[in-house]
Amino acid sequence: MSNKSHFGLIGLGVMGENLVLNAERNGFSSVVYNRTYAKTEDFLSGRGQGKQIQGATDLQDFVGKLERPRRILMMVKAGPAVDAVVEQISPFLEEGDLLIDGGNSDYHDTERRVKQLESRSFGFIGMGVSGGAKGALEGPSMMPGGTKASYDAIESLVNKMAAQVDDGPCVTYIGPGGSGHLVKTVHNGIEYGIEQILAEGYDLMKRVKGMTGEQMADVFAHWNASEELSSYLVEITEVCLRTKDPLDGADLVEKIVDQAGQKGTGLWTVVTALKMGASVPTIYASLNGRVMSSLKPQRVKAESVFKPLPIKDFDLGSIDDGMAPLMDATVLSCIASYAQGMELLRIASQDLDYELHMPSIAQIWKGGCIIRAQLLQRIQDAYNRDPQLSNLMLDPWFVDQVNRRLPGLAQVVAGAAQSGIPVPCFSSTLDYINSYRTGRLPQNLVQAMRDCFGSHTYQRLDKEGAFHTEWLG
Ligand code: 6PG
Repeated sequence: MSNKSHFGLIGLGVMGENLVLNAERNGFSSVVYNRTYAKTEDFLSGRGQGKQIQGATDLQDFVGKLERPRRILMMVKAGPAVDAVVEQISPFLEEGDLLIDGGNSDYHDTERRVKQLESRSFGFIGMGVSGGAKGALEGPSMMPGGTKASYDAIESLVNKMAAQVDDGPCVTYIGPGGSGHLVKTVHNGIEYGIEQILAEGYDLMKRVKGMTGEQMADVFAHWNASEELSSYLVEITEVCLRTKDPLDGADLVEKIVDQAGQKGTGLWTVVTALKMGASVPTIYASLNGRVMSSLKPQRVKAESVFKPLPIKDFDLGSIDDGMAPLMDATVLSCIASYAQGMELLRIASQDLDYELHMPSIAQIWKGGCIIRAQLLQRIQDAYNRDPQLSNLMLDPWFVDQVNRRLPGLAQVVAGAAQSGIPVPCFSSTLDYINSYRTGRLPQNLVQAMRDCFGSHTYQRLDKEGAFHTEWLG
């Protein structure tokens, strides 16, 4: 009997370890390689012990231990490390072998790598993997892109490894080139949005209502029981708010420095959107929220320079009604995050010829990933009804949500503004919805100015053609 393994994993970080344990549990004997062999030994004598997992001392040994065509998942840091591994392993690969990059790579890099590797008769899949360490072990959401033939070679593997929901595994063939990593990038942009939205709700409950951590956690629990907000991120927000500092039993969240970093995917989402002409203000506001948070020394200084606006006690609802207006603001802002992300994907799909299937993207986000939420069923239904839907908010179920919840969102944003409390995602969402539902915006005046100083011309409502006026006589 051959002792060749079905599956190979490079990079024994926590995600790599968990993914290989997941593959092995699902019947795929595995071989692992890590740059430092000591790490491989530790894994094999620890979590990997007694499993159908063997180690490799170098890449030649690793490749030699895999059955053909080889299926190799790389879980290394996005960027030059991926190119380095590709270069080091290429001399040992044979026609039809397949490399999968499971990191958060820039989709432009993946485009390039797919072309490079395919031209050498190897397959290359850029696969977004979401769900954190637990998801990697128990079943993540996976977003693989590359040639269809390459995907076919990994389909049985990823179908078993992925999270399972009622209508199937949380993985599908996304499309060609870098499409898998683009979809994962936009997933992360939506993730940034929802994280910031929930943080804004927490800030208002704390600063306007003086609520305790436990009270706020109760509100998040209430929200998590609703169709509109039931989600992984709301669930873990409740957990974060209930967690105590073991040192003194006080709320741990209040001990954490208010500066949020980022690894790049949120930024790439916004840059891609700006380049492609997609409107993503809620997602941008969350990114900028992190940038502002990092200016801590300046903010602390500015707090002592500028006169505070007294915090007004405005209506945020009561704990018993789940803070109704605040819930309105939260629901609409989450809807806006998804709508903006999906709209960006729709536009990117046209620009890049990815032929993304929107209902399937919603389907594979329903389980395993960080933005999994009950709302995704509604999103899937909306795109099933109309695969060319130009904006999610135009679907009848979402229209009703906007119509019912807009007054609550406006009330929350107005109250926060009068109290000097920043709510970037809530206020961006309000402007986004108000702009989107306004048939005539004031950009007619912008056009007049552009024509006035730069002869840029304008179009008229009542006549065809391009017009110019000598505005200054
Ligand atoms: C996921 C996450 C994950 C991501 C982190 C980091 O889907 O499992 O999106 O892939 O890397 O959340 O994101 P930031 O450090 O940029 O917040």
